[in-house]
Amino acid sequence: MSVSMKGKSLVSVHDLTIEEVWQILELTRAVKEKNLVGEPYRPLEGKTLGMIFAKPSTRTRVSFEVGIYQLGGVGLYLGPKDLQLNRGETISDTARVLSRYLDGIMIRTFSHQDVVDLARFGSIPVINGLTDLLHPCQALTDLYTILEKRGKLEGLKLTYVGDGNNMAHSLMHAASKIGMHVAVGAPKGYEPAKEIVENSKKNAAFWGTDVVVTNDPVEAVRDADVIYGDVWASMGQEAEADERKKLFEPFQINAELVKRAKDDYTFLHCLPAHRGEEVTAEIIDGPHSVVFDEAENRLHTQKAIMALLM
Ligand code: CP
Ligand code: NVA
Repeated sequence: MSVSMKGKSLVSVHDLTIEEVWQILELTRAVKEKNLVGEPYRPLEGKTLGMIFAKPSTRTRVSFEVGIYQLGGVGLYLGPKDLQLNRGETISDTARVLSRYLDGIMIRTFSHQDVVDLARFGSIPVINGLTDLLHPCQALTDLYTILEKRGKLEGLKLTYVGDGNNMAHSLMHAASKIGMHVAVGAPKGYEPAKEIVENSKKNAAFWGTDVVVTNDPVEAVRDADVIYGDVWASMGQEAEADERKKLFEPFQINAELVKRAKDDYTFLHCLPAHRGEEVTAEIIDGPHSVVFDEAENRLHTQKAIMALLM
C-alpha cells in the first residue's frame, strides 16, 4: 500500500514510518531499473531544488544535482558564500523567502537545529543532506544497498565501528526501524548520543532485535552481516584529527577485526575514506566491499526521495 509523502520534509529517518521507508526503498529499485535501461522518469518537470551547502561535498552535491535533472527539474547550487544567511539573515526569513521561489530545498550544514527550523518555517519540503547530528539520505541509501546485496534487511546484524557521529546516528535510526540488529563499537567518550540510542532501542523493541553500544570493537563486530566505517574526524573536527588518530587506532577496520564477522560479511563506507586510518586498503578495496555501488545508489535513492516529497 502506498502512502502519500508529498510536501513532507526529510530531516531525520526517525520521523519516517516503516511504510514510508519501504516506499523509498521500493521506488529506489524502480528508479534504478529505469535508469539502467535508459527509460525516462521525469515526474518533477519544471520544478527547482535549491541546494544549500555550508560544508564541502562530492557525492551529495553531484548526485542531487544530476538526480533532479534526470527527474525533469533543475538544481540551484547555493554555496557557503552565496546566501545572506552568511551575513546574519535568519533561518526563518530565509525559509519563507526561498519557499516563494523553489519547490524543494536540500541542505548540508553544521547545526541540525537550522535544518529543523528551515523545515518548520518554510512551506516546501526540506531534505537533510547532512548535519553534525544526522545523515539520513546516506543511511536510506545504505539500507537500499544492503537490500540489493543481501536480498533482505530484517534479522541482519549491522555493525558500525568508529566515531558515534552523524553517520552512526542515522544508521542506528534506519537499521533499527527496519528490523535489523545494530551494534556500535566506539571509543569511550565517542559513543553515539543518548537520545539516538534510546530512540533506536524503542524501534528495536517493536521487532525484538538488539541495539548494542560497546567500547569493544571485537564484541561489536562479532557475527556481523554488515560492517560500516566512517572517518574518525568529521567535517568541522579537523583540529581534533591528530588526537583522534591515536584514540581510534584500536577501532581500525582491518583483516584481523573482520575475522569476527560472518564469512560473507558486506563492507560499507559512506566515503570519503582515509585508507590506513578507519579502514585498511585491503578491506575497502577487497572482495567484501560494495562502497562504489553504495555511492552510486545515492543517486537512485535521492531521486526516489525527491519524487516522493516534491
Ligand atoms: N557520503 C557523502 O555524503 O559524501 P559527500 O560528503 O562527498 O557528499
Ligand atoms: N561523518 C562524516 C560523513 C561524511 C559524509 C562527516 O560528517 O564529515
